[in-house]
Amino acid sequence: MGLVSVLLVSFCVLSVLGIPTTLDGPFKPVTVPLDQTFRGHAVDLPDTDPRVRRIVQGFEPEQISLSLSTTHDSVWVSWITGDFQIGESIKPLNPKTVASVVRYGRLRFPLIHKATGHSLVYNQLYPFVGLQNYTSGIIHHARLTGLKPNTLYYYQCGDPSMPAMSSTYYFKTMPASGPKSYPSRIAIVGDLGLTYNTTSTVDHMIGNSPDLVLLVGDVCYANLYLTNGTGADCYSCSFSQTPIHETYQPRWDYWGRYMQPVTSKIPIMVVEGNHEIERQVENQTFVAYSSRFAFPSRESGSPSTFYYSFNAGGIHFIMLGGYIAYNKSARQYKWLDERSCQECMRVAMEDLLYQYGVDVIFNGHVHAYERSNRVYNYKLDPCGPVHITVGDGGNREKMAIAHADEPGKCPDPSTTPDEYMGGFCAFNFTSGPAAGKFCWDRQPDYSVYRESSFGHGIFEVKNETHALWTWHRNQDMYNSPGDQIYIVRQPEMCEPKVSQKC
Ligand SMILES: *[C@@H]1O[C@H](CO)[C@@H](O)[C@H](O)[C@H]1NC(C)=O
Ligand SMILES: *[C@@H]1O[C@H](CO)[C@@H](O)[C@H](O)[C@H]1NC(C)=O
Ligand SMILES: *[C@@H]1O[C@H](CO)[C@@H](O)[C@H](O)[C@H]1NC(C)=O
Ligand SMILES: *[C@@H]1O[C@H](CO)[C@@H](O)[C@H](O)[C@H]1NC(C)=O
Ligand SMILES: *[C@@H]1O[C@H](CO)[C@@H](O)[C@H](O)[C@H]1NC(C)=O
Ligand SMILES: *[C@@H]1O[C@H](CO)[C@@H](O)[C@H](O)[C@H]1NC(C)=O
Ligand SMILES: *[C@@H]1O[C@H](CO)[C@@H](O)[C@H](O)[C@H]1NC(C)=O
Ligand SMILES: [Fe+2]
Repeated sequence: MGLVSVLLVSFCVLSVLGIPTTLDGPFKPVTVPLDQTFRGHAVDLPDTDPRVRRIVQGFEPEQISLSLSTTHDSVWVSWITGDFQIGESIKPLNPKTVASVVRYGRLRFPLIHKATGHSLVYNQLYPFVGLQNYTSGIIHHARLTGLKPNTLYYYQCGDPSMPAMSSTYYFKTMPASGPKSYPSRIAIVGDLGLTYNTTSTVDHMIGNSPDLVLLVGDVCYANLYLTNGTGADCYSCSFSQTPIHETYQPRWDYWGRYMQPVTSKIPIMVVEGNHEIERQVENQTFVAYSSRFAFPSRESGSPSTFYYSFNAGGIHFIMLGGYIAYNKSARQYKWLDERSCQECMRVAMEDLLYQYGVDVIFNGHVHAYERSNRVYNYKLDPCGPVHITVGDGGNREKMAIAHADEPGKCPDPSTTPDEYMGGFCAFNFTSGPAAGKFCWDRQPDYSVYRESSFGHGIFEVKNETHALWTWHRNQDMYNSPGDQIYIVRQPEMCEPKVSQKC
């Protein structure tokens, strides 16, 4: 195999740097179980915690956050004015009553540029006796344009006529898109929630000074609460009697307030998870998610907030939702397909990503950490992407500690239907050690490392061939890695098939 000589080369790299590379793989699977000395459940911050309280007056901006547009020259600023209401006789605020203005510039004073955005309120309504309705504060989104790459900008947001402007915040733009231009550190987290363990994850993340944060689904877990504010660690077992899967929307505001010190300085890119579904009146779903965050959907040609793409320097990110249709006839698939070429695609999403030469796929949802070898269609493949699960942000649901390959833990295939795929999508393995079975009987060969601990990851693209991935566990010192790998691409061996063909 051609790999052998590469292995020798990379062995030298390994001995110098001490950090393994994917060229050293495939690696033997390792499982690290939950350290049983950890105290039980992750506990949510209560609504009395000062970090989740409303501290602004009147229509002063709160819950300020930044998100990227598709390119470096544009950034979204989002904020909320006015308080939410929850209960019986709620009366939605009129979003037109408060302007959406951002003043910004490279000097703190004067802020010479101005962007005007749009505003909205959303409601979470339950037409069932005994359930309380919610209406949000006024949510504002404004897009700053004409920004220079890698540059510090100061900004204030709010309504200058009231006057109700925020204090001055600052952020740094991404480097220009190009092969030798990368942000230094991108933090990747999933399934954050808002527990004391979440705060530990976020503290560790801040300690690594990221330039950008990616949140791969499951934000505040408002759907672990009834509308009266009573929460549970496991919704389905505690509240099976209610007529709809309730939520307690103020948890979203708590999350926005808690995160503001991070999100007002560092752009955050969010993609939806199952906890954002939040079904309500008229079967509406994902309303809080779609209303509260700004997404570069229009800028990236996506018709929805559920999938979009953007560049951070020379890195192209494709954010895909796992909770809306992603089969071949779905709009999301077609959008991804049209990003580069109309004719060349055949099979499912994974084929698409493989053919684009995607190197890493980050997932949330499973509440643990796992990193795979390069794999494609469950087979080890030096040109397949590395799959990394970072669902270990610290939310109050249980840490994932069982594995489907342990005795008695393999689920019945018929219990795993996927409604968003348009039906049933689980199949038995067709080849390899688990051929003909639904689960492996040991940690699969494609899995390198899995551990049941809370933490976050930092992704650092060094150059066109080398990206360093580091996973940090909450229980470790701030700078000591729990798992680390150089993801190395071999462009001559693994040319993306799409750009070849099209
Ligand atoms: C979660 O945080 C608590 C402290 O608030 C700590 O005792 C516990 O060990 C943490 N759990 C894990 C799995 O890190
Ligand atoms: C909440 O809103 C729904 C839909 O408008 C309505 O049917 C229901 O009566 C409202 N509930 C309360 C408690 O006001
Ligand atoms: C909320 O409703 C649940 C279920 O009806 C009830 O058990 C609980 O006591 C209520 N909590 C409050 C704070 O009213
Ligand atoms: C909502 O969904 C339910 C069950 O899926 C369906 O019976 C109902 O007709 C839907 N209602 C609306 C307004 O679409
Ligand atoms: C794809 O999913 C959509 C929505 O769930 C469904 O209507 C459609 O029949 C599915 N198509 C295929 C080919 O499975
Ligand atoms: C799939 O695997 C399960 C065991 O994991 C087995 O019971 C079932 O018969 C298999 N189904 C098919 C169609 O081979
Ligand atoms: C890319 O970065 C890696 C890690 O820093 C380094 O070992 C390698 O020599 C670099 N390659 C090029 C072509 O600069
Ligand atoms: Fe989750």
